Amino acid sequence: MAHTIVIFGASGDLTRRKLIPALYELHRKKRLPPETTIVGMSRTQYSHDQWREVLREATAAQVGPKLLPDLWDEFARRIYYYPGDVSRAEDFPGLNAFISSLEAEKNTTRVYYLSLAPEFYECTVEHLGQAGMADETHAPRRIVVEKPFGRDLQSARVLNAKIHEVFAEHQIYRIDHYLGKETVANVLVLRFANTIFEPIWNRRYVDHVQITAAENLPVGRRAAFYESAGILRDMFQNHLLQLLTLTAMEPPSRVNADDIRDEKVKVLRAVRPFTRADVAANTVRGQYRKYRDEPGVPPNSQTATFGAVKLYVDNWRWQGVPFYLRSGKAMSCRTTQIVIQFREPPHMMFEGGPRRIHEANRLVLQIQPAEGIQIHFQTKVPDAGMKMRLTDLDFNFREKFAGEMPEAYERLLLDVMMGDPSLFARADEVELAWNIVDPIQEAWDEGGPPQLELYEAGGWGPPYSEEWMQRQGREWFNVCPVIANHDESED
Ligand code: BG6
Repeated sequence: MAHTIVIFGASGDLTRRKLIPALYELHRKKRLPPETTIVGMSRTQYSHDQWREVLREATAAQVGPKLLPDLWDEFARRIYYYPGDVSRAEDFPGLNAFISSLEAEKNTTRVYYLSLAPEFYECTVEHLGQAGMADETHAPRRIVVEKPFGRDLQSARVLNAKIHEVFAEHQIYRIDHYLGKETVANVLVLRFANTIFEPIWNRRYVDHVQITAAENLPVGRRAAFYESAGILRDMFQNHLLQLLTLTAMEPPSRVNADDIRDEKVKVLRAVRPFTRADVAANTVRGQYRKYRDEPGVPPNSQTATFGAVKLYVDNWRWQGVPFYLRSGKAMSCRTTQIVIQFREPPHMMFEGGPRRIHEANRLVLQIQPAEGIQIHFQTKVPDAGMKMRLTDLDFNFREKFAGEMPEAYERLLLDVMMGDPSLFARADEVELAWNIVDPIQEAWDEGGPPQLELYEAGGWGPPYSEEWMQRQGREWFNVCPVIANHDESED
């Protein structure tokens, strides 16, 4: 089946750093359907060859020695460029005619990718509709919408309504690239393709769950955008809540898009709503000290670059089990991990045995960059009486499978082409996620409490975050993963 991928915002960063390298990788691995054409549109006046050259350099920077000249030439022959402005309705009929001239078959599937600043989403959708480009009479027409999908519940609803005027829900693919990560998909495999974890995956055995997405890099040149977003909109509404749903959901009976998404939606619906008092008691916000020196950031900025949120999922499985979500920029290392902290044994018969919660069993799902799984448990130290120590069983994806971890966009682009929306957010999912985040964001915007606390780069966020956990008798799992067989530049 033939496909055309149309990228709006072709000269942008996402196209160069993620989309084209991912499509090239699919081509290299012979997974890209042979009759695939890529058309880029943006305002820059490139010829086809000029754009191909820009993309070649950008792809080389991402994939390094995997850029093989012959393979690239073969791939580049599928790429075309059409100069145009998404805000001008009159540019779309011409684009449509150009795409049609490239499509030998009438039944070519089209994927429209909005790799644009969010303020251009609505006009692009409207103009696609006016030009008859969403019409599925002859073949599927799909649209991929990047994050941020709105900036609160209200704007997400408006955006959903606008897109629904032109595209039906089955045509819309709201991307959250975390869902394309192999280790994220593996959360479901670990839970539902094994028997030993599920019986203990509940309030009876689990004390709490920690989901951390730490980044060592500061905000840097994205500061102007980041200033109006902040950590909640940038990381919590999408990535962290998605990880929460996969960790907390019930097993769907089938692996199809709606069954999976129905279960995820149930988790989001069960999250206990935040009152002002909850925001004060159950959230922490911080900003790294040098953030206000970043270009485009006002000297009195109150934007959070660190956040920690404790929430509850009010259902039978999770009643009373806190889920701690935490993310920050300029932290001590880059690590995304889900920690399932189990309860202590009901009775400790060994003198000197573990008595604190963080010495009890723990399952750590390393999402990235040291993709793996660890089970922590107590063992007897040999020849030392009954001295015990927490040790671990350590599984590492890269060692075990001696392969590379593909980029999330490879999987996601292929899924859109094949028409599988399982790893994309449905309209209700996005709105429910905003519904959780909005009251926290509102309270923070009004100055808290909690107060915005400055933190030093290279640590684990504001000191209060540690104190807050300690007051609850718990500790953050602040461990930078050891990376085996891995080149950080890959990420
Ligand atoms: C993006 C955020 O969605 O995810 C960025 O906008 C963040 O701020 C990035 O750095 C993290 O993605 P990854 O795949 O590197 O964990």
